[in-house]
Amino acid sequence: MSEKLLNALNDQYNFEMLSGYYYLAMASYCESENMKGMAHFLVEQAKEEYEHAMKFYDFINDMDGRVKMQAIPEPKNDYSSFLEVFETALEHEKKVTGRIYDLLKLAEEEKSYPTVQFLQWFVSEQLEEENSMKDIIFKLEGVQKHFHGLMMVDRELGSR
Ligand code: FEO
Repeated sequence: MSEKLLNALNDQYNFEMLSGYYYLAMASYCESENMKGMAHFLVEQAKEEYEHAMKFYDFINDMDGRVKMQAIPEPKNDYSSFLEVFETALEHEKKVTGRIYDLLKLAEEEKSYPTVQFLQWFVSEQLEEENSMKDIIFKLEGVQKHFHGLMMVDRELGSR
């Protein structure tokens, strides 16, 4: 495997860690607004991001590379609505999907078939994650400012 591909995988390890940090910032906002179900959902999402990061960590090690930690930029901490939280989450997931596709393209160009196979899991996962965020946005747009509807969405997310 080339240095270029190893570095790109290492960058993605760091981006998954960053994603977890972003979700914790969103969870913390929801917590501060007393929306416990949403906060729970976002904490679970953060845990998943750390699992994604560890998949990259293990794979890089399996390929005899070395994982290097990078600085984590400050995530967006303040939101004006719960809808904005999940719209931000969807935009973030789209960015992740684009990065996975770029990695896949590079792995294919280099004929690194173990990497191509490794990334397949992320292709399906990204589709699932984008759809799950779209579904929540759809519900939140529906309830808008109706408090009972908002509480129903919050309860549903709390049962994750
Ligand atoms: Fe690990 Fe949500 O992408």
